[in-house]
Amino acid sequence: MVMALILLMAIAILLAFYCNLDLRKFSECYIKPLLLNKDQLNKFANDSEASITTETDYYHAREIRPKGVFDIPGPKPLPLLGTKWIFLLFFRKYKMSKLHEVYADLNRKYGDIVLEVMPSGLPIVHLFNRADLEKVLKYPSKYPFRPPTEIVVTYRRSRPERYASVGIVNEQGPTWQKLRSSLTSFITSPRILQNFLPALNLVCDDFIDLLKAHRDPHTFEVTNFEDIANLMGLEAVCTLMLGRRMGFLSTNTEQPEKIKQLAAAVKQLFISQRDSYYGFGMWKYFPTQTYRKFAHAEETIYDVISEMVDQALEENNANFMHHDDDVRSVFQHILDLKDLDIRDKKSAIIDFIAAGIETLANTLLFVLSSVTGNEEVIGKILQEFQDHRHTIILQDAFTNATYTKACIQESYRIRPTAFCLARILEEDMQLSGYDLKAGLYFVKT
Ligand code: HEM
Repeated sequence: MVMALILLMAIAILLAFYCNLDLRKFSECYIKPLLLNKDQLNKFANDSEASITTETDYYHAREIRPKGVFDIPGPKPLPLLGTKWIFLLFFRKYKMSKLHEVYADLNRKYGDIVLEVMPSGLPIVHLFNRADLEKVLKYPSKYPFRPPTEIVVTYRRSRPERYASVGIVNEQGPTWQKLRSSLTSFITSPRILQNFLPALNLVCDDFIDLLKAHRDPHTFEVTNFEDIANLMGLEAVCTLMLGRRMGFLSTNTEQPEKIKQLAAAVKQLFISQRDSYYGFGMWKYFPTQTYRKFAHAEETIYDVISEMVDQALEENNANFMHHDDDVRSVFQHILDLKDLDIRDKKSAIIDFIAAGIETLANTLLFVLSSVTGNEEVIGKILQEFQDHRHTIILQDAFTNATYTKACIQESYRIRPTAFCLARILEEDMQLSGYDLKAGLYFVKT
């Protein structure tokens, strides 16, 4: 009986891998619904080398085959593992938790363009050269084709009662444009952001109080700075999006259970997304621990946010900040949108919150670690804000703080917060001398 079960499982795994290995099938099931132009699909489905035009080398009287995607240097792909084996073999050197070091090493070893192959056989091209990055990221496109996070798409499609679409971050084409144009105008509006500054000052004051409460009284060291910075990111983004203070940074009162759950779920969401992408992808065939943890995190976030949205819809103004209408209006504006499904409104608020937390916190960590080692730099930054020691910092102060802005920009250049920006090519391109076809994954690192 046990043997039969093991045999059945082995057959299931082999079948799953077989289906997964078939790129044509993959493109049919996955890429096809995403690509708008059918020609692009045909290009992807054809053999990678076949349709690229060849030139003739008359001197040697032979055909020169242009270099295609599988000519790009990189770790050797193995059947069923792709290039993931590097994490198994060099597990001490290459760690999932330090992916930036992995890619820096691959860049050193293989150069400006590196090929990674997924266990499914899908190629992922890593670009390290500025000209290539600009060519891909600045491609004039009506609907930039950003590869979606598969686990989010799979989960959200399995819950149509909750999600009308897979959300602004993962949607493509006209649906993405509709969500984008109706949802982002509020968070990018200078007026709304300026009016948000007083509330943000209060968030920062609470952040500093919390740091003081956690620091060692003798050494002034804060051992869990990253966790506290993440709480600050969560509080700031929720204040912006939901128009109310959540109490994530509270020093004296115990946080409500719901808020604790929300903070833990947001953290888990990122961990599960990372594991689903960089792992072996077994969650696609079985509800693995990665998938279950992801689903649980999404559910928790959805339930907490959904309750707030429903409460706001019912009571309209209860519990929301009254002194600053513009802060509240991001949330209220989204709820007031006429031609958007309420499910899209809820999932948009969830997506905004998730997109904002770690980006804010990590930017702060990177900027601080770039400047705190140099007293002269710290002195210049403090000088730009010295008139505001006892007053709140508003737009004027930021406009004049040119040195601080330059420090932030330089920090972004050296330690980009949002790395691995991914695009799927919409037309054939030549990058670093390789002819690459539309429909492939590109990842900037
Ligand atoms: C300092 C902090 C932040 C950084 C460095 C950052 C960086 C980025 C980058 C580089 C992208 C583009 C990704 C791509 O082109 O593939 C992006 C997209 C996005 N960001 Fe941020 N972000 C930050 C804060 C926020 C905040 C606070 C929010 C929400 C309130 C937010 C919401 C979003 C959303 C919804 C998208 C997806 C837009 C789309 O696909 O159309 N971000 N972010």
